Amino acid sequence: MQETYEQLIFIEGVDTEKKAEYLVENFSADEFCESKARVWLETHFEPLLEVTDKFNRQSVSYQLSKKDILHSWLKYKEGFSADLVNTLLDEMNVPKNGTILDPFFGSGTTGLVCQMRGLNSIGYDIMPISSVSIKAKSSVMDYDIGELENLLREVRNLVVPNNYSKKTEYIKITEDAYPPENEIFIQYISDWRDESDYSEQSKNLLTLCVVNSLERCSYTTKTGQYLGWDYRSPKVIKANKEREASGKKLLPKKVVREVIADAHELITEELEHVITEIKLIQKNNMEANTAHINYVQNTVLKELPLLEDNSINGVITSPPYCNRYDYTRTYALELVYLGLGEQGIKDMRQTLISCTVESKSKVEQLEEYYKSIGEEDRFINIKNIIDNNNVLNEVKNALNKRKDNGDLNNNGVIRMVEGYFTELAFVYAEIYRACVPGSFVAFVNDNVRYGGEVIPVDFLSSLFAEQFGFKVKKVYCLHQKKGNSSQQMAKFGKVSLRKSITIWEKE
Ligand SMILES: C[S@@+](CC[C@H](N)C(=O)[O-])C[C@H]1O[C@@H](n2cnc3c(N)ncnc32)[C@H](O)[C@@H]1O
Repeated sequence: MQETYEQLIFIEGVDTEKKAEYLVENFSADEFCESKARVWLETHFEPLLEVTDKFNRQSVSYQLSKKDILHSWLKYKEGFSADLVNTLLDEMNVPKNGTILDPFFGSGTTGLVCQMRGLNSIGYDIMPISSVSIKAKSSVMDYDIGELENLLREVRNLVVPNNYSKKTEYIKITEDAYPPENEIFIQYISDWRDESDYSEQSKNLLTLCVVNSLERCSYTTKTGQYLGWDYRSPKVIKANKEREASGKKLLPKKVVREVIADAHELITEELEHVITEIKLIQKNNMEANTAHINYVQNTVLKELPLLEDNSINGVITSPPYCNRYDYTRTYALELVYLGLGEQGIKDMRQTLISCTVESKSKVEQLEEYYKSIGEEDRFINIKNIIDNNNVLNEVKNALNKRKDNGDLNNNGVIRMVEGYFTELAFVYAEIYRACVPGSFVAFVNDNVRYGGEVIPVDFLSSLFAEQFGFKVKKVYCLHQKKGNSSQQMAKFGKVSLRKSITIWEKE
């Protein structure tokens, strides 16, 4: 029997003084473009904006998870914290046997917190890292400690034979990412694991430990849009030689980390760490419940339309931000390690929700897909709402005007922004359909600015949500504002860009 929801929630006093700082007055630098629709939108949702201390930069990022038992097993910089999921769940009053959806599962924070609270969850993500992570963490109660201790002992004592010279795979953008002894050890331990008799569960745990070590064993660092390279790497040394020969300025002496970790030592340490936590969790029976995590490694755009109507009791998620960050570049080491080649990475880039300047439109694919599942009418309805959204249309026009004026440093931004909101609107519409009445939906996101044009991601998303039937309950805004990019600031001045958590209800 479905339990009734208690009356809530998400209603508190609002500090109007603080709020003023977070409202945007000028959406278009130098009033170069029309901003009527965005100004209207700001007024429309302003009463629901709440500057809050409930969440902060640490809780909406991976920072808090660094020390969290279980959540620290994968350093997923794009993740949010268990703390955030717990705070939201406390307010959502999900029924006991309820199911929470996180369509952008990442390292699986939402699913794991739900599991600890006895709630079922559904998660999607396209990256295999997500799959390895969730398999390893969700089976924490099932590991055989004796087997893991043997595994640790063997890993600690591994010696690469003198005649072993295989190296871990590279693609062009990851070439020579590891010092020679690491590129060999990473391959060796992987071959050794595959040939060993350990259970699939233990092998997967070791895979996670390798994945979690790769960046620190390499000359690279995740910088957001790209992989950053250390000046001591063969790649930068070679590039600098060529630059010197042709009289070009040398690349800056960037040090990504003082010491590039030894792969053998680091992987062993990671394994020790996870085994210590597994023992602790098993001893305290911290996870003793039967809640189920249903994870599917696929694009949300194909999975959500298949969800049954009224089958979900809440959503907690954070999609990729509209910020040009390319997961397939920053996670290239991990993706290549998990078997993706040159083409696999390119395909994945186009499967990501449009968040890079290389993203191409997915509208035709979406139309075909909806036809193939007999839901063409649904496609048409959603697409009509998107096409008639006057705020999105204003943003698109403004960006085009900025392009003609030479204000965009990459014109791919226009296609990215259009794709981003189009795809997310499909996500919002499908979530609405799949939610049981009374469910709450929380999306964490950042506002952005391109070419001097502010794009209010939080309010624009909420407008779509409203158009699909949700009641917008609250837009929590963090105290700290998101920094402007230095280029934008120099050219167009400073504006406040909110970092928000939007809360919608299907009444
Ligand atoms: C901001 S992260 C979510 C992090 C997560 N909340 C956590 O705590 O680890 C966004 C995730 O969306 C995933 N993603 C991007 N495009 C996707 C798509 N089309 N379908 C499913 N997942 C996608 C990315 O791989 C990334 O893991």
